[in-house]
Amino acid sequence: VAAEKGGYEHFMLKEIHEQPEALRQTLRGKIRDGKVDLGDLGIKPSRIGKIYIVACGTAYHAGVVGKLVIEKLARIPVETDIASEFRYRDILWQSDDLMIVISQSGETADTLAALREAKRQGIKVLAVTNVVGSSVAREADKVIYTHAGPEIAVASTKAYSTQLLIMYLLALYLAQERKTLTTEEIEIITSELMKIDEKVEEVLKQEEKIKKLAEKYQKVESTFFLGRSFDYAVAMEGALKLKEISYIHAEAYAAGELKHGPLALISEGVPVLALITQDNLVEKSMSNIKEVKARGAVVVAICKSNLQEACQECDEQILLPEVQSLLTPILSVVPLQIFAYYMAVFKGADVDKPRNLAKSVTVE
Ligand code: G6P
Repeated sequence: VAAEKGGYEHFMLKEIHEQPEALRQTLRGKIRDGKVDLGDLGIKPSRIGKIYIVACGTAYHAGVVGKLVIEKLARIPVETDIASEFRYRDILWQSDDLMIVISQSGETADTLAALREAKRQGIKVLAVTNVVGSSVAREADKVIYTHAGPEIAVASTKAYSTQLLIMYLLALYLAQERKTLTTEEIEIITSELMKIDEKVEEVLKQEEKIKKLAEKYQKVESTFFLGRSFDYAVAMEGALKLKEISYIHAEAYAAGELKHGPLALISEGVPVLALITQDNLVEKSMSNIKEVKARGAVVVAICKSNLQEACQECDEQILLPEVQSLLTPILSVVPLQIFAYYMAVFKGADVDKPRNLAKSVTVE
């Protein structure tokens, strides 16, 4: 087993470090001459009326980013829902709807049930999965694989970042086919995606710094993760990682919603992890940070380097390399994965096999 971990103490840390390679593998062959090629989706992009993205856990969080980016670039209405909730809704199906299911394992019972319901309704289903020949892959009309390689740790890391990459590629592909973006606009984003692996490498270099933060905060009972838009989607994933493996209470909140409740829970010394990567939202987010700081919170900012000035008031800063605001989730999640990992290590928790949790949930 030690050899399988490639010199790392846990599979999770190994898989965190495999992200640049996983991204390269997933991207391979999908961008040619600045154009995105995903092959036949089984439904004409120009005909899609509405998209439902359905998933569980971390895959659901990738779907939240998918919604934001598809709506932004391809101008198609998207709903993202948790599979176990989606199943019991009364969906107003239209024949031109498309369902996208995201599942690392391709075996999650609720996700599979949602897929089957869509198929029963005659709706086309596109699956994004990491496992060739999985149930989801077999039953969907079309599959796009994340080439993350086997993910052993229960807490998902490299599957998530490759799921994000597919969401971007899909949004770009739809935008290209629907002509909601110009060729130049698409080229700008694809060229950034082709370098995103190197930027993830840069973020990984900050491991020691993040480890020290985890050491400092290992005894806390509660944490908050704040962000707006894409940053909120990543805040949810960061909080989930921390809960899953360190058993510390972690709550993700849309920064603007803070004053409608959770602000009452902020007291002296509570760590707030603030994601600040959206160029157009930085001022709004900083005003929320002032509110938590005024109540004694310690604020760790995960901040895009061009926004460093604006984040100065935060107690700690983890800087991300420059990238377009919409692509930041692939970078900003990495410090949160490392933070959760070391929090769990310092607590002496079983990082790769957290209590009560399973890698794949095949019961409903
Ligand atoms: C379990 C795992 C999570 C995963 C979720 C969905 O809860 O512990 O890491 O995100 O299932 O799994 P899937 O295989 O469908 O992506």
